[in-house]
Amino acid sequence: MKRANERLAMNYFTRLAGLLCAMAVFAFGQSMHSVGNIFDPKATPAESVYHLSVLVIAVCGVIFLVVAGLLTFTILRFRRRKDDDGHEPAQVYGSNRIEVAWTVIPFLIVLVLTMATARVVIAIQNKPAPKDALQVTVIGHQWWWEIRYPELGIVTANELHVPMSTVANPALTFLKLQSADVAHSFWVPQLAGKTDLIPGRTNSMWIDPRQEGTFLGNCAEYCGLQHANMLLRVVVQPPADFKKWAAQEKTDGAHDPRLEEARATFLSLSCINCHTVSGTSASGTFGPDLSHLMSRANLGSGVIPNTEQNLRAWVKDPQTIKPGNLMPNMQLNARELDEVLAYLASLK
Ligand code: CUA
Repeated sequence: MKRANERLAMNYFTRLAGLLCAMAVFAFGQSMHSVGNIFDPKATPAESVYHLSVLVIAVCGVIFLVVAGLLTFTILRFRRRKDDDGHEPAQVYGSNRIEVAWTVIPFLIVLVLTMATARVVIAIQNKPAPKDALQVTVIGHQWWWEIRYPELGIVTANELHVPMSTVANPALTFLKLQSADVAHSFWVPQLAGKTDLIPGRTNSMWIDPRQEGTFLGNCAEYCGLQHANMLLRVVVQPPADFKKWAAQEKTDGAHDPRLEEARATFLSLSCINCHTVSGTSASGTFGPDLSHLMSRANLGSGVIPNTEQNLRAWVKDPQTIKPGNLMPNMQLNARELDEVLAYLASLK
């Protein structure tokens, strides 16, 4: 019986160890591919959070070692022995010195961690926006991000372009965070901590990315069926490239005279009730702005790469790609589908 129990316990431990290893491998793989690593910050707010995390992990690590060490020592030193006579050991009650120590030390530890955290929160939140800061409004939707640059007259989705910041030329981007439906949370781990987007309220955050490139993030507040597919890309560009991108985005949607028929077909369909193409009668705001759809790398808020084939599959039936998203299958016939795709592909 004892043997069988031991074997059962071993079996259980082997499986638990296997599960933990699998989780570690998965988490590591995730950190390399989907969202950025918080231990590799590329902007000031993320760096402050990183330094604070290191402090908290170090303090907690020391506490863990002390507690686990004492526990292990006690278990080994005072284990039941063969010559145990079955009597209870002497019971010891009340030691003022020990009780003061285990009240005061934890209090001081909590105090230090609270002060350190408050300092970081205040430093990030009270940062005044410089006059030349880029202002962006990000609106969370089920399940995509609307991105507006009110001063530049640009509306886009899911891919936030910002200028790169350097010591010589600091470029700060201030974000106003709002929600069109439920609570979401904006999180790009390498750039800043999480900030919620709450209906009826405007939150704010700022970033000053110091490295060119694309930084991945996602919605960090459960917001419904496709919460996990509410992905976010921040494209950090040198200021000159950012200006070029902004100038292109500001133009009206492309008007290719060879696609007159395709354009007319698109504008005759109910697509225009939800989507905007600037310079046309399509002015819906329920779904992402399509004026420069082809300038974006992904479709469906990061669900699939924006290729011709994927765009066709998406328009044909978005529900097979992102089940539950609010774009219905429009039941387009073959001709309509071809024309809508030809027109969308021209929106560079
Ligand atoms: Cu939006 Cu989770």
